[in-house]
Amino acid sequence: MDEVSRRAKAIRPFVVMDVVARAKELTAAGRDIVRMEIGDPDFSTPDVIRRAAEAAMEAGDTGYTQSAGLPDLRDAIRDHYAAAYGVTVDPEDVIVTQGTSPAMLLLFGALMDPGDEVIISDPCYPAYSNYISFLGGVPVPVRVRAEEGFRFRMSEVRDAITPRTKAIMINSPANPMGAVLGPEDLAALAALAEETGIWIASDEIYHGLQFDGPSRSILEFTDRAFVLNGFSKAYAMTGWRLGYLIAPRQFVRPAEIIQQNFFLCANHFVQVAGTVALLEAQGDVARMRAEYDARRRYLVPALREVGLTIAVEPTGAFYVFADARCWGSDSLALSGRLLEEAGVAVAPGIDFGPGGEGFLRFSYATSLDRLQEGVRRLRSWSQGV
Ligand SMILES: Cc1ncc(COP(=O)(O)O)c(C=O)c1O
Repeated sequence: MDEVSRRAKAIRPFVVMDVVARAKELTAAGRDIVRMEIGDPDFSTPDVIRRAAEAAMEAGDTGYTQSAGLPDLRDAIRDHYAAAYGVTVDPEDVIVTQGTSPAMLLLFGALMDPGDEVIISDPCYPAYSNYISFLGGVPVPVRVRAEEGFRFRMSEVRDAITPRTKAIMINSPANPMGAVLGPEDLAALAALAEETGIWIASDEIYHGLQFDGPSRSILEFTDRAFVLNGFSKAYAMTGWRLGYLIAPRQFVRPAEIIQQNFFLCANHFVQVAGTVALLEAQGDVARMRAEYDARRRYLVPALREVGLTIAVEPTGAFYVFADARCWGSDSLALSGRLLEEAGVAVAPGIDFGPGGEGFLRFSYATSLDRLQEGVRRLRSWSQGV
């Protein structure tokens, strides 16, 4: 008898993890694989952050902290939002979590009742719909299109709103598209939220990795917003597991209670290191951003030159989401072929929703040399297609 819960079975697998596993298998068997499938920075965590963690461990910062997080870190988050965006965040409204991922559970757990709807983009980061469904909610995808820079059409967002809509999920810069919502998009979404009484949930994890100007926070445009953010990407801290939720006041205590029960707190010495990251590692963020930008400026024209279509240049995160239908419309099959036949690992667009079918996601969180090698392989592979 099949005893696995319907809830667990409803979670869709993240296929890119299968690509990762197969890429590792091939590497272990002696093949050289160019790894462009995963969004994990190739930089090591900046020294100043590592040293802070070492000192904190030495000092015995190894126990539980307050569930909501260390006061110093919450103050540093307030100061960061003031310096970067000119907005006032009360540290009381910040809950520190073990990455942005658990912050999604706090957000949707505090906001949604079963049957409530959350508007997401299609394509988008796949965990959103899984968190929403797992908690009994209904993800409502709204299509975004490559030729429109993957920005929402506001009329389509409006049409998707029902009496059950609780929030619109946004992610700028975006995974997998590398697209950025401009101030006019954020202002329009903020106005819609205020008009309709729904919330904006803004995943700002790729802030700091934007190449056409500073990132803009949704909090510059409205208070009807939750912010998710974390240290994984801009600070090259994926394995440290540190993030946070900034919530409207009435949701703070409920979210904190979820955190207390399910996670207790984030790691003590990691929180100390995160405080130092915000206060002292902005130069490192700028250095890594410049390197990502150099890779992006190489990769976008190089992928176009091998035949892929990139309608609007991506200006954030470290992804290029390219239309690969010239090579085949089944992105899963195509990514499998590229891995086995060309030795290049990429993420299939279908992983990010039906709107991603026919696309491939190339991550440039890998060195320029390896990107160049990957493009060489794609070029010779495509000549045989
Ligand atoms: C858009 C987006 N949000 C959240 C996450 C999860 O980040 P974290 O490591 O902070 O849990 C990722 C990771 O790839 C992501 O791409």
